[in-house]
Amino acid sequence: MPENGHQNLAMVTCTAPVNIAVIKYWGKRDEDLILPINSSLSVTLHQEQLKTMTTIACSRSFQQDRIWLNGKEEDISCPRLQSCLQEIRRLARKRRNTGDPTSDVSIVSNKVHICSVNNFPTAAGLASSAAGYACLVYTLSQLFGVEGELSAVARQGSGSACRSLYGGFVQWKMGEWSDGKDSIAEQVESESYWPELRVLILVVSAEQKSVGSTSGMHTSVKTSQLLKYRASVVVPCRMEEMIRVIRQRDFQAFGELTMKDSNQFHATCLDTYPPIFYLNNVSHRIISLVHRYNQYYGETKVAYTFDAGPNAVIYTLQEHLPEFVQVVRHFFPSEANGSEFVRGLPVCSADLSEELKRDLNMEPTPKGIHYIISTKAGPGPCVVEDPSQHLLGVDGLPK
Ligand code: DP6
Repeated sequence: MPENGHQNLAMVTCTAPVNIAVIKYWGKRDEDLILPINSSLSVTLHQEQLKTMTTIACSRSFQQDRIWLNGKEEDISCPRLQSCLQEIRRLARKRRNTGDPTSDVSIVSNKVHICSVNNFPTAAGLASSAAGYACLVYTLSQLFGVEGELSAVARQGSGSACRSLYGGFVQWKMGEWSDGKDSIAEQVESESYWPELRVLILVVSAEQKSVGSTSGMHTSVKTSQLLKYRASVVVPCRMEEMIRVIRQRDFQAFGELTMKDSNQFHATCLDTYPPIFYLNNVSHRIISLVHRYNQYYGETKVAYTFDAGPNAVIYTLQEHLPEFVQVVRHFFPSEANGSEFVRGLPVCSADLSEELKRDLNMEPTPKGIHYIISTKAGPGPCVVEDPSQHLLGVDGLPK
């Protein structure tokens, strides 16, 4: 760990990825420990396109724990932040007490300064809490020399964050115990297992801010009968099937199951009382377009999934990407303001046949989609070795 003699300052910087569920987590059985009512499964996205970077410093001279998120100091007393901090400090002390000679005795009782930024615009409405809490917990563990199972700690920051501690295809096993120790994430396959799989995030304009996932799922658990049925009957079978089709790299089955699970999640939102609407008109048009496109070819070439907002995440295979992006460009012509419509991994251009355009039979929706982020599956959290990348200066304050 880098140590600055003058300041007695230890500092670590790490990055962590975003993940997008294909079997959704929705509903808690324990709101404090963040224990879910069903297991879930996600794909970790590549950090070149979407990541959180966090620097944590600790020093004897710091007066209190402090946190800066995307350039602004925030309240460190937030209960979920406190859960993660307390839990990592407890694990670090436990390690010290069991006599591990490599553990640093003094450092755990020092206060920390935390500085965190995303490499993607917060305004895009992409869930950033998963990457944020995964990065916080991973960076703290590096600073305090805590090893082993970290997903149960990240889970206490935000449920979906536990899945961001691994790359590739990741399941969050709901567990059974009341202390939550068996409610952990596990890698199903690594990010290199299915290299042809590609991901597009269609950033849709939201007119109004939607209900947050925490409060949304709270109301769903209280009121939705459909959610009970989903958690007890539907998801257990879907988890098994999803793992099987990923291992077989069977895109048809993977895509179909992904879309069905997204639709059922949004159906439970509609079954919530009062109902919750996360999808807007543009989301609905994207759903129709995907089904019409697949129908034209008589096979599932692309699949959509939606979280607690109107943005679509599209899963497809590399070979179908150029044409599908062209289809999106055609039916959602962009605002010609000079900024790039397709960002991230390059997508080759393609021509659309008149027959395909005619068959899809949709009126174009100008400006419905702001831009597209093109990405793929990627690795879990990493340590940033280059000290010039630290977000905190030697004074322990944001640079
Ligand atoms: C729709 O993890 O954001 O994205 O545990 O309350 O922090 P909290 O909720 P959060 O919920 C994510 C819900 C989802 C589905 C998913 O990612 O599985």
